[in-house]
Amino acid sequence: MSRVLLIVSGGIAAFKSLELVRLLRRDGIAVTAVLTEGGAQFVTPLSLQALTEDKVYSALWSLTDESEMGHIQLSRAADLLVVAPASANMLAKMAAGVADDLASTVLLATDKPVLVAPAMNVRMWTHPATQANMATLRARGVQAVGPEEGAMACNEYGFGRLAEPPAILAAIQALLRPAARPLAGRHVLVTSGPTHEPIDPVRYLANRSSGRQGHAIAAALSGLGARVTLVSGPVALADPPGVTVRRVETAEQMLAACIAALPTDVAVCAAAVADWRVAAASDAKLKKVPGAPPPALALVPNPDILATLATAGPARPRLVIGFAAETDDMLQHAQAKRARKGCDWIVANDVRPETGIMGGALNEVHLLTAEGIEAWPRLPKSDVAARLALRIAEAMGAMEALS
Ligand code: C5P
Repeated sequence: MSRVLLIVSGGIAAFKSLELVRLLRRDGIAVTAVLTEGGAQFVTPLSLQALTEDKVYSALWSLTDESEMGHIQLSRAADLLVVAPASANMLAKMAAGVADDLASTVLLATDKPVLVAPAMNVRMWTHPATQANMATLRARGVQAVGPEEGAMACNEYGFGRLAEPPAILAAIQALLRPAARPLAGRHVLVTSGPTHEPIDPVRYLANRSSGRQGHAIAAALSGLGARVTLVSGPVALADPPGVTVRRVETAEQMLAACIAALPTDVAVCAAAVADWRVAAASDAKLKKVPGAPPPALALVPNPDILATLATAGPARPRLVIGFAAETDDMLQHAQAKRARKGCDWIVANDVRPETGIMGGALNEVHLLTAEGIEAWPRLPKSDVAARLALRIAEAMGAMEALS
């Protein structure tokens, strides 16, 4: 049986840790809880004890606790350490290596994987100090789930809400099942979202891509153990857990970030890259001159990132996958695109407005490979992502067997 050491730090979201314990137990995962002083302001040791059916630990210097199970033993007995919620203070202590209570000491003493589920006020989350702490922790291999965007207890809105317990459970399951990590050791590049092409400092050309499908693919690939670099245009989505995110605005920046991410084993180009940019974006805001005609926007083509990666010579990823969003003669156009761009697979979808796919939660795709065309059923974008990630893992396994 897998065992999670759950560290509950302070914050209004701490009450959700009880639901998380319930879900973990239902999934057959044993839980031992460590409650920080802050966490104990929001949930009681008794509730955690009842749900974990185990002793709840909180004091570093308790002789009984140390004789029963010392802090080193506590982390050794677990397969995974989960900090949910992880407060700004807890993340700062982890990043700095501070060990001034039982929770931070266990985190410093462990050699087990660590997953954090941050939860805090949006300003605390976006503060450069917290962002720098998260970057430090990620670089050390700490995995993160959330935070999500939404309304906060403090009447503000933004990123900072604790990920929902089922999402934290999914991240835990992925980390606990090394057998389900067939992409371990692989590096995958994913592009996602729209691009913004400036007209002047305040205006830009854009499209309706939400980035949901691309981000879901990055998350699914990471769940299968891949090291994922996600190059994302401007989106209103949380970073998928455990994924390295490079944020860009324009197609040219996206191409540069993709090339910088090479070498990779696989590239999945799910971004809706603008085909054109304004030939000469103005450095100053274009003015409305009374009586004068509106400015004419001359456009020039953007680099084709998919085609560039697919023809990158020795640096070409072994598997290059493009998307084809079409409004008519979808399969015919998608087949032609596969050949023209030199990619291996095309995921084709019908983006006529009546399908509700663009920006929506569901997707209905066809997968075009050298072997033929597969029609997939209408599925949530996360399921399309999971299916595609499994197909990628299979293909990489087959390529390995051939080489
Ligand atoms: O040519 P079209 O835009 O329809 O092709 C779609 C596919 O090509 C997508 O996979 C998209 O990410 C990729 N693409 C790209 N760079 C461009 C245009 C499209 O990578 N400039």
